[in-house]
Amino acid sequence: MLAACTIDSKKPADGDGDFAPSLPPAPPVLRPLPIPSVSTPSQGVHRLVAAVGSTQILPDINTTTWGFNGPFLGPTIRLSRGEDCVIECENRLPEDTAIHCHGMLLPAPMDGGPHSPIRPNETWRAEFRVEQPAATLWYHPHIHGRTGVQAYRGLAGMIIIDDDVEDTLDLPRDYGVDDIPVVIMDANFTSDGQLDENLDLTVGLQGEKVFVNGIVDPEFQATTRKVRFRLLNASTMRFHNIGFSDGRRFYSIASDTGLLGSPRKVDSVRLGPGERNEIVVEIQPKETVLLVSGGFPDNLGVPKGVMVPDFKLQETATLVTIRGTTHSPTSRHDDGASVPAVLDPSAAAPVDLSEARERSFELNTFEINGQAMDMHRIDFAIDHSDPEIWWVTNGNSDWIHNFHVHNCAFQVLESSPTDVEFDAYGWKDTVTIPPGVTVKLGVLFGQYRNRHYPYMYHCHMLYHEDQGMMGQFMMINKGESPELDTAYTQDPRNVRGLHGH
Ligand code: C2O
Ligand code: CU
Ligand code: CU
Repeated sequence: MLAACTIDSKKPADGDGDFAPSLPPAPPVLRPLPIPSVSTPSQGVHRLVAAVGSTQILPDINTTTWGFNGPFLGPTIRLSRGEDCVIECENRLPEDTAIHCHGMLLPAPMDGGPHSPIRPNETWRAEFRVEQPAATLWYHPHIHGRTGVQAYRGLAGMIIIDDDVEDTLDLPRDYGVDDIPVVIMDANFTSDGQLDENLDLTVGLQGEKVFVNGIVDPEFQATTRKVRFRLLNASTMRFHNIGFSDGRRFYSIASDTGLLGSPRKVDSVRLGPGERNEIVVEIQPKETVLLVSGGFPDNLGVPKGVMVPDFKLQETATLVTIRGTTHSPTSRHDDGASVPAVLDPSAAAPVDLSEARERSFELNTFEINGQAMDMHRIDFAIDHSDPEIWWVTNGNSDWIHNFHVHNCAFQVLESSPTDVEFDAYGWKDTVTIPPGVTVKLGVLFGQYRNRHYPYMYHCHMLYHEDQGMMGQFMMINKGESPELDTAYTQDPRNVRGLHGH
């Protein structure tokens, strides 16, 4: 039998213990935390319909928003490793969109990137086999130049992958009961309660109001002592340092693309736009505790000055008010709050990178390696099946970037030179890179080949991405050369370069 780690939230932190947010006043009106429904496939197809709707992100105010199968956000798509899945998305929006499964290893034509636009009133279909470990992924639009505003309006949903490894572990997994999706977004509102879409020229669409699963000030009733939260930072631009109002410690059990080798005991986790983290925390009967975004004591390495307030790096926000049940715990996870000492041993196994080919990327303002995204330029092609080493440098001295790569999972092997903390644990697909910092990534790719469709790599701060901070690579067979799909390149509706110019 495996030993178990016990959560002792009363014990003073032995590591950092510096998560001590100064909190905003208690929210006046609490509403129950909405739990996104789970998509049920009909005849094997997960159907998403993107449409305009109206929702009450703020209490009693109807805001026009976009959503999948509802006015805001979308259903959780639950998949099992090994399954053949079909996702269809119908576009009932007034403009083109695209739908990308972030974190998924899949063939490039199914990746839902900007080369797969869905025109209004058209339906796009992705079919692929799920070939990766249990994880919390997500889907969101990816139409070039409009991703930020479409996500801001509400187009995002969670994907949960299950597998046999995760299934045998004693972890909370009762969706909506003790396994809770936490989709974090933000917005500014106009005086009449509509989404303020005035683009700030520094931070794009970044909001003052932070909300979870579509509403501000949600309240979650914990009916078990051990609760798993699947944290997804679906913000277009905002970074969050997430912990609890009393600084209690908890376990981080999974990073972007799957379980950690073993749990980490922490008092906060840091998530840039696009990143995920699964945590397990103990909630006592009858207690009230807040899940909070507590600000960054180290400003994520951004020098003091105007960018710190611009990026809201010192601001705090209440994410979810959690109340322990007044009853005694009822679920099978009431046996004291522990998590297995070993989660996924294979996640901790080192990858052989001795023969790895290396590439470097410099992120600067809105460019990567001195170039802005061009939909018609393939930046490089990979014609082997080995892992690679990617050196990614944030060349800006006062901007943060959040680097994401499609169709892969990577480990952060090194970062230099920095004392700044950022989430670099486990297998990831998106990583925060503080100003001036270089990260060394060991990258494992999905092994599909296609010389007509590319995958993207980009900054996941969506304003940066939309401004052109993105590049494209192809996975091809040896001896082939990339040639973009003619259905795309010859369609006059498709943009050349940035924003259709
Ligand atoms: Cu979240 Cu290019 O994706
Ligand atoms: Cu992605
Ligand atoms: Cu960026």
